Amino acid sequence: MCGIVGVYLRQDACLPILVAGLRVLEYRGYDSVGVGVLQGPEVVVRKRAGRIEELEKALGQGDLSDASIGIGHSRWATHGAPTDDNAHPHTDVAGRVAVVHNGIIENYLEMRRELEEKGVVLSSETDTEIIAHLIAEELDCGVALDQAVHRALGRLQGYYALAVLIGGDRPQLVCARKGPPICVTATEQGAFLASDALALLPHGREIVFLEDGDVAVLAPASITVRDADGRVVERPARRIDWDAQASDKGGWPHYMLKEIHEQADVVGRCSKGRVNLARGAVELGGRGFTDHELRKIARVQFLACGTALHAALVGRYMLEGLAGIASDVDFASEFRYRQPVLSPQTLAIGVSQSGETADTLAALRLAKELGCSQLAICNSIGSSMVREADSSILIEAGPEIGVASTKAFIGMLVAVYLFAIRAGRARGVLSEKAARGRLEELHKVRPYVERLYGEDMSARVEGLARRHVKAKGFLFIGRGVNYPIALEGALKLKEISYKHAEGYPAGEMKHGPIAMIEPEMTTVVLASNDAVASKVRQNIEQVRARGGPVICVGSDAESMAVADEAVEVPEVGPWLSPLLNVIPLQLFSYFIARELGCDIDKPRNLAKSVTVE
Ligand code: AGP
Repeated sequence: MCGIVGVYLRQDACLPILVAGLRVLEYRGYDSVGVGVLQGPEVVVRKRAGRIEELEKALGQGDLSDASIGIGHSRWATHGAPTDDNAHPHTDVAGRVAVVHNGIIENYLEMRRELEEKGVVLSSETDTEIIAHLIAEELDCGVALDQAVHRALGRLQGYYALAVLIGGDRPQLVCARKGPPICVTATEQGAFLASDALALLPHGREIVFLEDGDVAVLAPASITVRDADGRVVERPARRIDWDAQASDKGGWPHYMLKEIHEQADVVGRCSKGRVNLARGAVELGGRGFTDHELRKIARVQFLACGTALHAALVGRYMLEGLAGIASDVDFASEFRYRQPVLSPQTLAIGVSQSGETADTLAALRLAKELGCSQLAICNSIGSSMVREADSSILIEAGPEIGVASTKAFIGMLVAVYLFAIRAGRARGVLSEKAARGRLEELHKVRPYVERLYGEDMSARVEGLARRHVKAKGFLFIGRGVNYPIALEGALKLKEISYKHAEGYPAGEMKHGPIAMIEPEMTTVVLASNDAVASKVRQNIEQVRARGGPVICVGSDAESMAVADEAVEVPEVGPWLSPLLNVIPLQLFSYFIARELGCDIDKPRNLAKSVTVE
């Protein structure tokens, strides 16, 4: 998704800070980039299609080093191709107002026609440009910039995170939010805004996240926020303790590989302070987790997208098996357009790394309207999802930069496992002894995770990737808690190597997919030593009998013995094998993508956080 930065400094040069902020946000995916700064009363815009390096070449032509107020933007094209003209910032005709925007203006065609009928000549194909013209119209009525922004936005439908800069004799910097996030911080050096707290960390850790409808005016060392009704409000600052360097590759070739290797720490951090082994108890701070509240839950509705949905699918097995709670999982993008029948005793659990995925937010809001309480399992403390939900469990994965989610996934699994044990104990489904056993199993996971991405295992998986990189397609199959891992393995491979891959419940093979089996189609089978192991072994035999090569990943020795190739995974409790089985699949997709020379951290067409529909 688009990245937004803005600064209003007392005296320092703003360009280096804007470019550094855009670099931190590169991980979100973009296809054009630009800045707008004030040189005296003039708004000066430099913008280019392509990467930040293209912008830096443009900035080299001319001296903007004395500018101390500016905005920057990395664009992920929605309306209009990634060209210089369509890059942000966009300005009004007089070049007095510069705007950068993340989101979609749904009535932009109507507004575009209105402006053209007034003789306004638009210079881009974007929806964003109309915002600059509307603000200029309001300024011509003599109102202050923040009111002009407020009034202009009142004429728009859709959602936005935006920053607006005006020159002239009273330079001003304003930002506004309805939907995609905007956060701000102020220090002695000046005031800063960004679409992602990561870009603010080099300047300050006390971060204010704007609410929907807010408009904030930034001045050299102060920020004034007005709410949707124009009232000045105090939004609470949240301390973000993430290590600013964590968003640095630290010598790894790719963020994705670095983050795969952080997963043991994530298991530790997500469990820390929440597990009382001696008492077989889980303590989840915050609201929504009293025994009474947990006993009231009649059913759970998981809502998520992508990898987070796969974590939710594993969560369903955990909640049913450990807490006896009936659970459903739906794609958030489907749920929000259904007419779901939910009761007030339904707990809607949103699962999301970013906490800003538009579909998941919308689905949770629908569940709230239908009377459900909401729980957010999320990685981002200041995100919309955490702020809007009744309760939350932070997965403590630290900033995840690689577009392909890895460490956040394992954090989600740990969080939902802990929640299931907490709920199971509260509902009398799980005895203290049984809960202690489950927590002891979790305690074993961390060293196993470390071993699975250790040198020997990595080399083994790398060899598998080399042998199968030319396969015409991949089928990932699993049963029970490992069916979602089959889906996740397929998604990882698709999104970073662009190879065709499908995840399937192994029991479904004979209902169609087995027709695809041939020597050029590699089948990856998840086979843990569990209640469905013998069934999975039959699936392996079925594939091999038709000449299909099989890679078996798991702890079931007999399945590995009948497969062509195998990756052995340590045996853990029945609900924890997904946390281990997924790691060889993450590495497998990584090595295949690397063999193919793909852009692993920034795959084509993808964004890290999909904050638009
Ligand atoms: C996962 O590798 C993908 N990048 C994508 O499917 C992602 O999981 C999905 O967009 C949901 O994002 P979220 O967890 O931030 O809500």
